[in-house]
Amino acid sequence: MPNLSNALNIEDLRKMARRRLPAPLFNYIDGGSDDESNVLGNVRAYDTAKLIPEYLVDVANIDLSTRVLGRDISMPLFLAPTGMSRLFHHDGETAAAKAAAEAGTYYSLSTVGSTTIEDVGAATDGPKCFQIYVMKDRGLTREFIQRCKDSKFDSLALTVDIPVASNRERELRYGFTMPPKLNLRGMAGFAARPGWVYNALTHPGAQLANVAHKIPEGSSKSTSLMEYIAKQFDPSVTWDDMEWMISEWGGPFAIKGILSPADARKAVDIGITAIMVSNHGGRQLDGALSVFEALGPIVDEVGGECEIICDGGIRRGTHVLKALARGATACSMGRPYLFGLAAAGQAGVARALDILRTEIKTDMGLLGCRNIGEIGRKHIT
Ligand code: GLV
Repeated sequence: MPNLSNALNIEDLRKMARRRLPAPLFNYIDGGSDDESNVLGNVRAYDTAKLIPEYLVDVANIDLSTRVLGRDISMPLFLAPTGMSRLFHHDGETAAAKAAAEAGTYYSLSTVGSTTIEDVGAATDGPKCFQIYVMKDRGLTREFIQRCKDSKFDSLALTVDIPVASNRERELRYGFTMPPKLNLRGMAGFAARPGWVYNALTHPGAQLANVAHKIPEGSSKSTSLMEYIAKQFDPSVTWDDMEWMISEWGGPFAIKGILSPADARKAVDIGITAIMVSNHGGRQLDGALSVFEALGPIVDEVGGECEIICDGGIRRGTHVLKALARGATACSMGRPYLFGLAAAGQAGVARALDILRTEIKTDMGLLGCRNIGEIGRKHIT
């Protein structure tokens, strides 16, 4: 296990993950669609605005806590839904959910996660969201909602930015499938990481745990995630389905993948709790707006009428502060915690959260803000 105290920032965790993971898996996390311009674009977009500190404020005590999707959280940052975490560390989603709970923040389980709703529900009392993709088998959506109620999840999120599968060339290059079924380049990537291979062979295999019982060929048949999406996801989902899900769930509900103020307005009109401004980490429509670019116009349209989560490109505490100053309620992150998970399981996720919590707190002090409510439009260009 790497010495996590050597990871001073999220990029250090990324390097640790790269050293530990077979190339096909590292590239699955790190990659995006087409030219991947949105992957880095999401991070760089934060450079387009500058923070404006105010001094001689007593910042001896700084409170990072806030509230999202019906739960109090200890900092304005939580774990976004991500697929198949047990490929990156055998404890996968359970490790991430426990690290989030110990840090006092939200964990989000994905429909294409590799741990069941029930196992994540049993692993922690911390705040939990389940992210829904609507499958052609519409009975699954009803089933997910019931299972989340039974397992005491706090909220649901519908991801809307995968109406169809995207072109992810890194996955094609390595023959990345679930379970792995590799081409030569992919095999070489696994052969170069015997530690990961030994671990994989000595733990139960990862599968799409929440939909395994509905995959016609059985979940052990190799399929790429994009192939699976093309076959099983329902491309005909509309606002009517969303409205039905909100009323069927009856609790906090987020819509994830919104970039347009007009869509944000529609979501508010049907009673959404939170809008997650997101371009799926640059993994869907390449060349779409970056998340930080999209945030401002969405805040201008629906700010104050629902929670607004900035989901994309967060690598530094200052990125969180810029999002909050521009009107976000909180931020969520995927890759930063997956790098921690791949590097060292639960301890690695805890390290990612700790790095960013420390940065947010330091940066709030430098900005002259004692609590989240004090961060505002005057603090950003
Ligand atoms: C899953 O949602 C992915 O982006 O790979």
